[in-house]
Amino acid sequence: MEHELQSLEAEARKCLHDLTDEGQLEEFRIRFLGRKGSFSTIMRQLGTVPAEDRPRVGQLANTIKAEIEKLFEAKKNTLDAAISGASDRQTPDLTLPGRVPAGGRLHPITQVMRETCTIFENLGFSVAEGPDVELDYYNFEALNIPAHHPARDMHDTFYISDSVLLRTHTSPMQARIMEVQQPPLRVIAPGKVYRCDSDITHTPMFHQVEGFLVDKNISFADLKGVLTVFTRKMFEKELPLRFRPSFFPFTEPSAEVDIACVMCGGSGCRVCKKTGWLEILGSGMIDPEVFKKVGYDPEVYSGFAFGLGIERIAMLKYGIDDIRLFYENDQRFLSQF
Ligand code: FA5
Repeated sequence: MEHELQSLEAEARKCLHDLTDEGQLEEFRIRFLGRKGSFSTIMRQLGTVPAEDRPRVGQLANTIKAEIEKLFEAKKNTLDAAISGASDRQTPDLTLPGRVPAGGRLHPITQVMRETCTIFENLGFSVAEGPDVELDYYNFEALNIPAHHPARDMHDTFYISDSVLLRTHTSPMQARIMEVQQPPLRVIAPGKVYRCDSDITHTPMFHQVEGFLVDKNISFADLKGVLTVFTRKMFEKELPLRFRPSFFPFTEPSAEVDIACVMCGGSGCRVCKKTGWLEILGSGMIDPEVFKKVGYDPEVYSGFAFGLGIERIAMLKYGIDDIRLFYENDQRFLSQF
């Protein structure tokens, strides 16, 4: 039995040395130290040992059992330390650079709107803002578009009541400002406008910047000069501009201004409807009828006005071929600006 106990100790030492995880450690405990384990099996033979040898063999058994238990505890501590060391490594490494949180940014339309305003402010224009919910009077009547005038059909208007509507353009600001200020004046009026309209170059809500300048001896050449400077600054290059005769009841003569389509370089595409040009604004010399309504003398004063479509400018500036992308709120699109 003494020999068996010594062999058991040697075998237990070897097993403990070789095992590498907690599962194997538990198997070891059951195999060597469990109630039905090797040690208990040997100890059950103690009764067969001659009485005079029994105390010595019993003492040897106790010593060997204590030794195996001590080795078992030591191995358990080693494995526990290794496991907690590994979990320590999973805690964040504070020396690594942090993740940069996705920052907010200005919507491309806001960017182009601000840039537009800055260009005109640098040309001496002051900025005025007016209501989106407008009186029919300012949106139409004051601009020489009386009730039932066919020009009202040019705007697909959202009416709130017979006399109140969502403004269809920023031109009402001409009348609002001229009513309360005397010439000379140089004003831009940025803002949202609304029309029942939607396709790749039209949205039901869009942005315009109205500009108007009134003084003595203002001519169409001044209008052309200001708009040419604007496009040069906005697009940072010389883009072909086309002044196309047009009609607005509040300007005479009137012109719509087109810019060579940047999408196709002028060869024709779906954005410019195969024309090679994209309309960005309406403009003209302020009609004497408008001056009369606000009490200006058209024999003394003259002036020009224009209304820029900001989404169209943004499309040309960034090469966007569908205006509706601006309002889909797709982060993949918006994060590019
Ligand atoms: C007007 O709104 C006139 N008030 C402009 C004006 C001002 C003329 C002062 C004379 C003097 P028009 O409807 O053409 O004009 O619109 C002006 C610009 O707004 C267009 O050239 C285009 O760039 C833009 N625009 C018009 N409708 C839409 C729409 N549904 N979506 C996006 N942009 C539009």
